[in-house]
Amino acid sequence: MTIQQRRQKLGEMYHRTVLLWSGQAPSRNFPANLYPFRASSHFLYFTEMNLENAVIRLDQGNLTLYYDDPPPSAALWQGEKPSRDRIAAQLDATAAYPLSELPHHHLTEAATLPVQDKATYQQQCHLLQRPLPPPSQSQGPDLALAKAIITLRLAHDEAALAQIRQAAQVSINAHKTGIQTAKTAQTEAQVRGAMEGVILAHNFTCAYPSIVTKQGEVLHNEVHYHSLQNGDLILADVGAETELGWASDLTRTFPVKGRFSSTQREIYDLVLRAHDTCIEQMGPGVEYQDIHCCAARVLAAGLVELGILRGQPEELVAQDVHALFFPHGVGHLLGLDVHDMEDLGDLAGYAPGRQRSDRFGLKYLRLNRPLQPGMVVTIEPGFYQVPRILNDPNTRKQYQKWVNWEKLAQFADVRGIRIEDDVLVTQTGSEVLTAALPTQGTEIEALMNTGA
Ligand code: GLY
Ligand code: MN
Ligand code: MN
Repeated sequence: MTIQQRRQKLGEMYHRTVLLWSGQAPSRNFPANLYPFRASSHFLYFTEMNLENAVIRLDQGNLTLYYDDPPPSAALWQGEKPSRDRIAAQLDATAAYPLSELPHHHLTEAATLPVQDKATYQQQCHLLQRPLPPPSQSQGPDLALAKAIITLRLAHDEAALAQIRQAAQVSINAHKTGIQTAKTAQTEAQVRGAMEGVILAHNFTCAYPSIVTKQGEVLHNEVHYHSLQNGDLILADVGAETELGWASDLTRTFPVKGRFSSTQREIYDLVLRAHDTCIEQMGPGVEYQDIHCCAARVLAAGLVELGILRGQPEELVAQDVHALFFPHGVGHLLGLDVHDMEDLGDLAGYAPGRQRSDRFGLKYLRLNRPLQPGMVVTIEPGFYQVPRILNDPNTRKQYQKWVNWEKLAQFADVRGIRIEDDVLVTQTGSEVLTAALPTQGTEIEALMNTGA
């Protein structure tokens, strides 16, 4: 769909006036040194323009722009920028005004979604003369708007898919470079630098802070200073974002010097089996929670085969024993946001009437809906040895019956393994958008050792 068609569709589903703010970049340490600006995803969806400090008003498919012409000094410091009128023409706007006009247009009844940055959020509350709770706690028109936008953004149109495919391709290139760099790299930072370099060279950005680490058990690891030694595994979770803001989310785990140890390979192959089995089951109407439970079952069964767990896989999953090693959900929605629409809490991820479980094995499941054609989700099972979980005396006692701790100790060189791909749900099944990046252990080793 074009942006006009997206606006038209929203107008058919939601009949009131909508105001969407793009937001603004916060300052880092002094006012002129800003964090990179990235417009709100809802704004991007209807404009395809990374326009700072802008507001759009949507009425039955018509767009009115509120935006200030750049000040003359901008030409000196940032270069010439397009005028409001030029942007309005590009957006096919029916009218365009400076921001100072907004308060005079009687818009307190308009529906909106709160943006993330505080300064703009306060402007929203001020203009609408009401508090704006998080969307999952909102009511009335704001809640109805959130639901309409979710319906639109859940299933991607062709233009969106073309963008996600581009993001996926650049991520694949970045990962190939990362895997090939690992053999000679001295530090995690060098591998990360090589991977992000590929993304930046495409004039894309990273869709989220890169995780490139030998401490793969730290799920959202934030540091990259460790040196790399033979025997380490690198978990690299790095995804590109296109210029229009569409994301990809990709993880591979590879051995620093090009060969998995036998214990690493056994666990790697098990995680891959879970990954492949989940993807085989995907298709329209399939419950995503069932895919998650499928990953849990395959992992539990494999850990029994390896002698790490004892018992029947079904029983182990029912008791959340698998979650000792796989403590997160099997994936999430992907789109303009890497965890798409999580600014709306669980409104997007959970079907109406469903709520998060507080069970250890389900509480981090971010998506619990039937799959539908056009959705893109990640499939990312993993195995992690998190000391905080596994060394807790209470945990050891509680799971004593099911875990062979002595056997587990033999797998000490496996800290964290995750294999993550981006999967499109089609009319008949699914398509792995990141399939061109190998997953098989032998293929990963070949890529490292021969570059093939
Ligand atoms: N890159 C974060 C995640 O996989 O959810
Ligand atoms: Mn992910
Ligand atoms: Mn990821």
